[in-house]
Amino acid sequence: MNDLFGNDFNSIFKLIPDFFQRIHEEKSDNHVRCFFHGTTGSFYGRLFPDDYIHFFHSSYSLHWLSQAPKSSTDTDEPLNKGNVYITCTSLPSIREAYFSQFAKNFELFLKSRSEELKSDGIMVLTFIGRDETHKIDNPAEVIGMVLNDMVQEVSDEGLLEEKKLDFFDLPVYGVTAEEVRQVIEEEGSFVIQTLRTFNIGWDANLHEDVDDSILDSKMKGEFVAKSMRAVFEPLLSVEFGKDTTDELFKRFEKKVSLLFEFQTLEYTNVSLSMAKVS
Ligand SMILES: C[S@@+](CC[C@H](N)C(=O)[O-])C[C@H]1O[C@@H](n2cnc3c(N)ncnc32)[C@H](O)[C@@H]1O
Repeated sequence: MNDLFGNDFNSIFKLIPDFFQRIHEEKSDNHVRCFFHGTTGSFYGRLFPDDYIHFFHSSYSLHWLSQAPKSSTDTDEPLNKGNVYITCTSLPSIREAYFSQFAKNFELFLKSRSEELKSDGIMVLTFIGRDETHKIDNPAEVIGMVLNDMVQEVSDEGLLEEKKLDFFDLPVYGVTAEEVRQVIEEEGSFVIQTLRTFNIGWDANLHEDVDDSILDSKMKGEFVAKSMRAVFEPLLSVEFGKDTTDELFKRFEKKVSLLFEFQTLEYTNVSLSMAKVS
């Protein structure tokens, strides 16, 4: 278990006794050899000694960039005016800036993990990815739409300054399968064994708890708004303030509910296994 220094490992470790209980029951065995270890530090750098680990798995984490992308030209112009992420109408320069930041981070991840892996080591990664044929692929796009609406509507009262939106971008990137392949091949420490993409609805986890027959678009919107708020609120409220963030998520919930009425909203996932080049 690896996470950033600031994250609360206590709440994760508190879940472990219940987890042990469950695997003991499932396996009817009180001596399951499963040991937990927590490691603090950014995965964009070294975490373990050389030649130490047999198998790495990272899930739904490598879309987090170490920082938001920057414009390649040194101007005072915003990179991504009126938006906070990539959309289907973004200029190629925006995608390029995001990809360049992703590639820099991911190369360091690959290099660090390859030094820590044993010679026959394996790595399995699952990313929140991107499918350029989807009209809307990631809830971050809807956050940008809502912030843009708020700038247009309320700029007279000064609730959200246009400049603030123009100069803020989320430090996340959904990579395509081909882009992942490109970075791995260019970096050279790993050889890809399997690479595939699959889709999961934004509301997928809700279906585990609620009967499909009573699920409506309002419930789906509420669920997505709560989960996105858990992920992005700390970043957004520092940038835009608490009141604007409250208003943003109220509007986000309504917008996502409406979108669910007309289209399928799914994450594109990229999953791959790779072996260390010996
Ligand atoms: C969506 S959670 C994924 C949690 C878990 N792996 C899963 O699949 O449910 C993403 C996690 O990545 C962590 N994270 C983001 N950037 C990181 C970095 N540079 N180094 C280590 N952890 C990072 C975040 O703190 C967060 O806990």
